[in-house]
Amino acid sequence: MRKKRTRSFDFKPFSRKQRFLMSWWEDGSPYRDLDTVIADGAIRSGKTVAMICGFLLWSLASFQGESFILAGKTIGALKKNVIGPALQIMERWGLPYAYVRSGDEARLEVGGNTYYLYDAHNERSQDRLQGLTAAGALADEAALFPQNFIEQMMGRCSVEGAKVWLNCNPESPAHYVKTELIDKAEEKRIYHLHFLMEDNLSLSPKTRERYRRMFSGVFYRRFILGDWALTDGLVYPQFANDPERYIVETPPSIQYAAVGVDFGGTGSAHSFTLTGFTAGMERVVVLDEYYHSNRKDGVLSPKQVEDAFVDFVRRAKRRYRVYEARCDSAEQTLIQGLTIAAARAGLGIEVCNAVKGPIHDRVAFYNSLMAQGRFAICARCSNTIKAMKEAVYDPKKPLEDIRLDDGSTNIDSLDSMEYSTEPVQSSILYLGLKGAGP
Ligand SMILES: Nc1ncnc2c1ncn2[C@@H]1O[C@H](COP(=O)(O)OP(=O)(O)OP(=O)(O)O)[C@@H](O)[C@H]1O
Ligand SMILES: [Mg+2]
Repeated sequence: MRKKRTRSFDFKPFSRKQRFLMSWWEDGSPYRDLDTVIADGAIRSGKTVAMICGFLLWSLASFQGESFILAGKTIGALKKNVIGPALQIMERWGLPYAYVRSGDEARLEVGGNTYYLYDAHNERSQDRLQGLTAAGALADEAALFPQNFIEQMMGRCSVEGAKVWLNCNPESPAHYVKTELIDKAEEKRIYHLHFLMEDNLSLSPKTRERYRRMFSGVFYRRFILGDWALTDGLVYPQFANDPERYIVETPPSIQYAAVGVDFGGTGSAHSFTLTGFTAGMERVVVLDEYYHSNRKDGVLSPKQVEDAFVDFVRRAKRRYRVYEARCDSAEQTLIQGLTIAAARAGLGIEVCNAVKGPIHDRVAFYNSLMAQGRFAICARCSNTIKAMKEAVYDPKKPLEDIRLDDGSTNIDSLDSMEYSTEPVQSSILYLGLKGAGP
């Protein structure tokens, strides 16, 4: 156990909304008897920082020797968004703490209380909560958690006087955080606070404006206006409505490029995408594609897929610096085949697993690039162009953000395109903006 030297938090004045979130539990507050608080709304609106302050003040004033839950989508996200700021805040307040940073027992110890770190990234994440008796929980970005984690977390908070603190950005209006918690706030004794960027006084009008320009359509409504908005049918409305704006004959000067690979089954296609990045990651350009429909043109053998891959990478390497291919991790045998084929052909490319993060984040990424005028695609990539024009959300599930994948549209080109950019997605998006994204 060691105490890392940490900067102290540079507080700016809190907004009224932030002060509500910090003090709703205090004596004299009309909400003090409620069990749960939810702060939802726009990105960068000061929800997390105010929630950390409120949670620490409340837990330290109300309990000693109790256990608490600190949960994030991943431990990495939790450390970045919650633990990092919490350490700086405690440093600023002169509050002694101990931080055990790794292992199953990763925790903060403050004022006799213990705050355990949890990730909530899949249906099994809740298992770790079982058996715990907690006096409170802080769930950061809770709309990204599986429902069973939130339910289990709330169930674990059984100490008399326990409170659960949740914050999130809006998702679809059918999301359970909206339908089961926010819409039933009164019945479930939940205090609901809705945040906008104006509720964060530390953001300058210029920075707020830059964030506004990053999004359009449904993402603007969710991330900027803070509404639980419905998608508008098309996955890439800006592209579908004006593809010519993004299609180029000759790409701009490319600093380096990356390959994305999606393997197809009998009913789908093999797709490779080469994506280039300009200096400083300013622009993202789809440079080249390979597309083979197993359904229309016959199923390829693994050897044929390997040959196609080697050809594709050779062609790419003639013009660009290419270090990495990110491949659909569901097909480990095919990935091994590509790795061996790449080594044998002396391609000098690392063949690795795709990140395969939430599709929603990838879609938001490409839409945001378009809103900022930072996306282009070479005219030769006709399959990808068609795929982007035609991509729609599943009309049978109008309340959910599910991309239609019934064979009528080409999801494979989109997958391989996304695999090629996923590792650098958030650093590209928030380039030049201080702090992390939603
Ligand atoms: N009172 C404050 N003093 C100083 N900085 C602040 C204050 N409130 C918020 N900030 C800063 O503003 C930025 C956004 O705040 P925060 O992370 O709390 O927003 P958020 O609503 O949780 O955003 P997101 O939805 O993107 O997670 C952070 O860099 C945070 O440190
Ligand atoms: Mg936050």
